[in-house]
Amino acid sequence: MIPMLVAGSYSQVLTSRIARSTGSELASVEYAEFPDGEQLVRVPDIESTERAVIVASTPTDESYVELLQLVDACRDVSRVEVVLPYMGYSRQDKRFREGESVSARAVAQGLPPVDRVMTVNVHEPGVLDWFDAETIDLDASAELANGLESISNPLVVSPDNGAVDLAESLAGALGGEADYLEKTRLSGDEVEMKPKNLPVEDREVIVVDDMISTGGTMSEAIDILGAQGASTLTAACIHPVLARNAVLELYGAGVDNIVATDTLESVLSSVSVADLISRNL
Ligand code: R5P
Repeated sequence: MIPMLVAGSYSQVLTSRIARSTGSELASVEYAEFPDGEQLVRVPDIESTERAVIVASTPTDESYVELLQLVDACRDVSRVEVVLPYMGYSRQDKRFREGESVSARAVAQGLPPVDRVMTVNVHEPGVLDWFDAETIDLDASAELANGLESISNPLVVSPDNGAVDLAESLAGALGGEADYLEKTRLSGDEVEMKPKNLPVEDREVIVVDDMISTGGTMSEAIDILGAQGASTLTAACIHPVLARNAVLELYGAGVDNIVATDTLESVLSSVSVADLISRNL
């Protein structure tokens, strides 16, 4: 059954690309704001379909509330699926200190039951168990590799062991080698890294992480690898959150290029995950 695609505010380009590649209908979404600032969404034609696929990254609180409203607007549709190209709050996947909320669980359990939830390189796949839905996490490393093909025999480095799998699959797709740095997080925007003895000198190096948020992690890695003699330094990520001055931090650290996907739409989103999602609908 060809779905009707319903785009969240942060996924309009990606959803349009999925509609183009699948031949699906792209729903019109209308927005209104009440005098107190509350938002209202309306999907006027939603009752004409039996299968709705909502595509909505949730990098902000407002976008999460909007997602809840979109799901509610689709409540009379026989089959409802949610694609979260970027799932906000996914990093708080456990209680790090006593008394903290497990935010990933809170937002997953806050979503009403739907037929399926799809994510793309979600930070910790275990969070999918908290959705009341069938779930699938897609791996966009092959798509990211397509955007990095001009780099020959790269050394692909993850800034910590959390992104080693991503570095390995990217290195595999590009025909290079993978390794990682050891990172310790000191606070929300401060990290410390111990350089490893990597064969960096005169190598084209790609540093890859699932996301670049403040850029602190990636900048530190770029700085260290530049000091070790890398010939070129490319920062790659699936999710370009790019909070605050992340881009300036990266260029300040000496990055030559930044490549990211359109799970979040930014000027650096040169790689699309639209075909990957389309193939899995
Ligand atoms: C954390 O474990 C993630 O994989 C990223 O390394 C992190 O979220 C990047 O954040 P930032 O850009 O703020 O250092």
